[in-house]
Amino acid sequence: MKIHFLKLFAIGTLFFLVSCENDSEDDLVDVTPPVTLVTYDANVKSIIDSNCIACHNDPPVNFAPMPLLTFAQVKEAVDNRGLLDRVSSEDISFLMPAGGPRLPQTTIDVILQWNTDGLLEE
Ligand code: HEC
Repeated sequence: MKIHFLKLFAIGTLFFLVSCENDSEDDLVDVTPPVTLVTYDANVKSIIDSNCIACHNDPPVNFAPMPLLTFAQVKEAVDNRGLLDRVSSEDISFLMPAGGPRLPQTTIDVILQWNTDGLLEE
């Protein structure tokens, strides 16, 4: 009886050690989620194409002052033409797209995050 108990104890200890080993390996795995930066090509171009180039074409129409067809043009509008303020505005007379409606907040947030991430092209 004693021997039997010792055998069970030994097997139990073995399982315990094996599972401890697995646990500690898991602890070593780097669990930081991969960072995906917002880029013009992957995220922003499609937003501008769907909502802005009806007017900001090349050449622009409906009295829009500049095209927003290329990475360079859209980046320039962020840097020098207040694009972020225009899409974020609550003032319908200032808001872009001109005449509204305001873009969904999640879409605006993608454009703002693009700026935060450094206005990357790709
Ligand atoms: C219905 C036509 C139309 C649409 C659609 C439109 N715009 Fe405009 N946009 C204009 C006009 C007209 C102006 C010039 C008058 C003004 O500044 O309000 C302008 C001006 C701007 C300006 C300021 C330019 C400057 O030099 O001051 C920015 C930036 C801009 N638009 C960005 C956008 C963005 C981004 C979108 C899409 C989310 C967009 N626009 C959609 C017509 C439009």
